[in-house]
Amino acid sequence: MERIDSAAAYLREKLGTRTPVIGIVLGSGLGKLADQIENQLVIPYKDIPDFPVSTAIGHKGNFIVGSLGGKCVLAMQGRIHYYEGYGMELVVLPVRVMIRLGIRSLFVSNAAGGTNLDYHVGDLMIIKDHINLLPNPLIGPNLDGLGPRFPDMTRPYDPSIIKLALRLAAEMGIEVHQGVYVGGTGPSYETPAEYKYFRLIGADAVGMSTVPEVIAARHAGIPVFGMSVITNEAHDDYADDYVNDGHDVVVAADAAADKMTALFIRIIESL
Ligand code: HPA
Repeated sequence: MERIDSAAAYLREKLGTRTPVIGIVLGSGLGKLADQIENQLVIPYKDIPDFPVSTAIGHKGNFIVGSLGGKCVLAMQGRIHYYEGYGMELVVLPVRVMIRLGIRSLFVSNAAGGTNLDYHVGDLMIIKDHINLLPNPLIGPNLDGLGPRFPDMTRPYDPSIIKLALRLAAEMGIEVHQGVYVGGTGPSYETPAEYKYFRLIGADAVGMSTVPEVIAARHAGIPVFGMSVITNEAHDDYADDYVNDGHDVVVAADAAADKMTALFIRIIESL
């Protein structure tokens, strides 16, 4: 709690009179949404006392505050992953800091592999639910100042924001899937048998992030909206020369980032 509060105090001083109402987590290759933030102030994670730094490819490692869709937002350009070797309490620290700063909703995004055979590279998926295969970030003494010991997870992703997003996507002519995201540890990509397993247990997309942050936000009662960009397709039979590659994932995410950015902005405008 001290670590959360000291990072929040540092940021509060930097923010001055700016009071972000929406927190945004930008996933692999999706950092360019930050370019659309007006009157922005960049606060590098490395300048924040005792703060973890993102080492993943396609993750820059900055907080960016400014105006998006007419609202004051605080965006994380790059997140912290469990596979980087950080403990779960550090993976969720940035989100908890944003919560301490008073955000009233959290938007999360990620690059993900499509386990649903109808999903293709460049597709967008609104996350309607998740399956957690990472350690739960709430394990350990409960931080009573943030939320209850046994938080409800009946509606992990806010149904009213999903409804709004579906209406706006249709108006904008942007096709979106609605699906279940399974979060694993990575960093190895899945074997064909694992992709099949995830499909069988009800997942439409798989990634290495997001779920911890969503659990931390829901612990604190913050409504969440989540979106995956499908960067690779999970088949059971690959071509002899097919490989999953982290750089290809970032390139595919970057190519679809404009669509996701446009939709995020419209949703934020309409909230
Ligand atoms: N698996 C796990 N994480 C990912 C993938 C994947 O196929 N694609 C992008 N992130």
